[in-house]
Amino acid sequence: MSAQSPVPRPLTDHPDRQFALRQYERRSSVYDAELAWFEPLRIAAIDALLLQPGCRVIDVGCGTGLSFAPLMERLGNEGGIVGIEQCPQMLDLARERIRRYGWHGIELIEAPVEQARLTELADAALFHFTHDILRSTAAIENVLGHLQPGARVVATGLQWASPWAWPVNLFVWSAALHSVSTLEGLDHPWSLLARYLPDLRVRPTWLGGVSMATGVWPGA
Ligand SMILES: C[S@@+](CC[C@H](N)C(=O)[O-])C[C@H]1O[C@@H](n2cnc3c(N)ncnc32)[C@H](O)[C@@H]1O
Repeated sequence: MSAQSPVPRPLTDHPDRQFALRQYERRSSVYDAELAWFEPLRIAAIDALLLQPGCRVIDVGCGTGLSFAPLMERLGNEGGIVGIEQCPQMLDLARERIRRYGWHGIELIEAPVEQARLTELADAALFHFTHDILRSTAAIENVLGHLQPGARVVATGLQWASPWAWPVNLFVWSAALHSVSTLEGLDHPWSLLARYLPDLRVRPTWLGGVSMATGVWPGA
C-alpha cells in the first residue's frame, strides 16, 4: 500500500483532514457519476430547506457543486450560495460547473469549514453527505454562527442501520470507506448538530442506511 492510498486506513476516532483531502483528490473525476444514485435524496434535502427566491444558502462541503442547479432553481437571480470546500480538485469542478451554466451569485470558499471566513449571515445551511464535517464541533459552530436566527438546516448522509440489517450495513461500510475519514458517529451522524438545534428531526431512509436531519437554528 502506498503512503498516498486512501483505503484501507486506520479507523480514527476523529475526522482526518489530510486523509480526506487525498480521498477526494482521487475521487473527484468520478464523483458525480458515483453520486447519481443519491440525486433524489439531494432534491428531498434541498426541498426540506424551504427556500424562497432571494435566500442565501451555505452549501457546506459543496464538493463539485452538484447541489448548485437545484438550489439556483429555487433561489432565483436574487439569491446566493456560499460553497465551502477544502479539496482543490473538487472545487475546480464546482468552478467549471458555474462557468458552464453562467451562474452569478455563487461564492466559493476554498478552506476547511472550521476556518472558512464567512462574511454575511445566511438563511439556510445544507450539509449533504458531509460526515467528516458533521463530526467537527468547530465546523458546525462556524456555520451556525453565520446563520440568521430561524434559518433552516438540513443534514443528510450515511448512517448505521439496525444491527439485524447487515446487508444495509455492508453497503454503509463500503460506501463510508471511500467517502469519510472516520467511522466515529456513524450511528448518529447528526448528534453534534442536535446540541445546537433543539427541534432537530431525523428521518431514516434507504432502509435505515441514510438519514436526513432537519432543524431550525434558534440563534446564538
Ligand atoms: C461526499 S462529498 C459531498 C459533496 C457535496 N456536498 C455533495 O452533495 O455532492 C464530501 C465533501 O466534503 C469535503 N470536506 C470534507 N471535510 C471537509 C472540511 N473539514 N472542510 C471542507 N470540506 C470538507 C470533501 O472534500 C468532499 O468534497
